[in-house]
Amino acid sequence: MLILGLESSCDETAAALVTGDRRVLAHRLAGQEAAHAPYGGVVPEIAARAHVEALPPLIEAVFADAGLTLADVDAVAATAGPGLIGGVMVGLVTGKALAHAANKPLVAVNHLEGHALSPRLSDPDLDFPYLLLLVSGGHCQLLLVEGVGAYRRLATTIDDAAGEAFDKTAKLLGLGFPGGPAVERAAALGNPHAVPLPRPLKGAAEPHFSFAGLKSAVARAVGEHSSEDLAASFQAAVVDCLLDRTARALAAAPQASTLVVAGGVAANAAVRGALSDLAAAHGRRFVAPPLWLCTDNAAMIAWAGAERFAAGLVDPLDVAARPRWPL
Ligand code: KG4
Ligand code: ZN
Repeated sequence: MLILGLESSCDETAAALVTGDRRVLAHRLAGQEAAHAPYGGVVPEIAARAHVEALPPLIEAVFADAGLTLADVDAVAATAGPGLIGGVMVGLVTGKALAHAANKPLVAVNHLEGHALSPRLSDPDLDFPYLLLLVSGGHCQLLLVEGVGAYRRLATTIDDAAGEAFDKTAKLLGLGFPGGPAVERAAALGNPHAVPLPRPLKGAAEPHFSFAGLKSAVARAVGEHSSEDLAASFQAAVVDCLLDRTARALAAAPQASTLVVAGGVAANAAVRGALSDLAAAHGRRFVAPPLWLCTDNAAMIAWAGAERFAAGLVDPLDVAARPRWPL
C-alpha cells in the first residue's frame, strides 16, 4: 500500500510517500521561517500564498525521489484541519484534485491524528492503547489512544499550548522565531534554578494544563535576569508542569503500557529526557518519534492516511476544510 501525504496547516509545506509497511519512500518539506520572521509569528495570508507556491514542486519532487508516479499510489491523504484555514484549503484542494484526476480515494486527515499516530510509523512495536502527550504549537493534550479514530481526551490546556508558551517566551527574550529551538539553545547555557517561576496547576486534582501564568511571570522577570537563565528556568518550569500532569494521567490510565510523546515540543531534549524517566518510574515503556517526525511534516499525514485507509476510512471529494477540529 502506497500513500501520498500532504501537509499545509501551519507554516510548513510538505509532501511524502509512505507505505503501509512503514517505509518512508520520500519526504520533502519547505519551511516559511524567513517569510514570517519579520512579524515574529505566522501570518496566515503569507502562509497560504507560500503553500500555493511550494506544494506543486514538492509533490513532483517526492515522486521523482521515489521513482514513482501518481498512478502508483493507493490513496491521497491531505490534512483537512485543524489549522490556518487558507493553508489547510491549499493542501486539501490539491489532494482532492490529485485524487480526482487519478481516480484514487481521498483520506482527509486530522493534523492532530497525524501527530497522534506518528509514533507508530517510527516504532513498529507500538500497540494500542497508549497514553499520548501531544505537545505542539497549537495544542497541549493528554490522550488515551485506543485505536485508529478512537481517542479519549484526558486533559487539555485551559489557556496556552506548550509550544505557544515557548514561542511567546522566545519573543519576550528576543531570541527570534521559531521560538522553541531558540529557547532550548539558550536554556542549555543558563541556570534552571536562577529565576523562581510558577508551575501552574502543578498538583491540582483537575487533569488540565495551564501556561499563561508562566508566560506572564517570564514577562515580569525580563531585564532582571540574563536571557539564558530565564530560558533555562522557563524550560524547567514547563518540564515540571508536563511531568506532573502526565504522572497524574499515567495513574489514571493503567491500561496504557506505553507513554508516548509527539508534536513539535517533543523535539525538546529536556522534555524527552524527563518523560523517559517518568515512564521508567511508572513501569511503562517510552516512545518518542525521531526529531524530524515530531515537528510538522507530511510523512505523519501519509501514515495516518495509511492507517485510516487500511481501516476502510476514506472521504468524499466534497469533504470540508476545518479550522477547528478536536480529535
Ligand atoms: O507540531 P508543530 O511543528 O506544529 C504545530 O502543529 O503546532 O509544533 C510547533 C511548536 C512550536 O511552538 C515550536 O516552538 C515548538 O513546537 N518546538 C519546540 C522545539 N521545536 C519545536 N519547543 C521546544 N523545544 C524545541 N526543540
Ligand atoms: Zn503540528
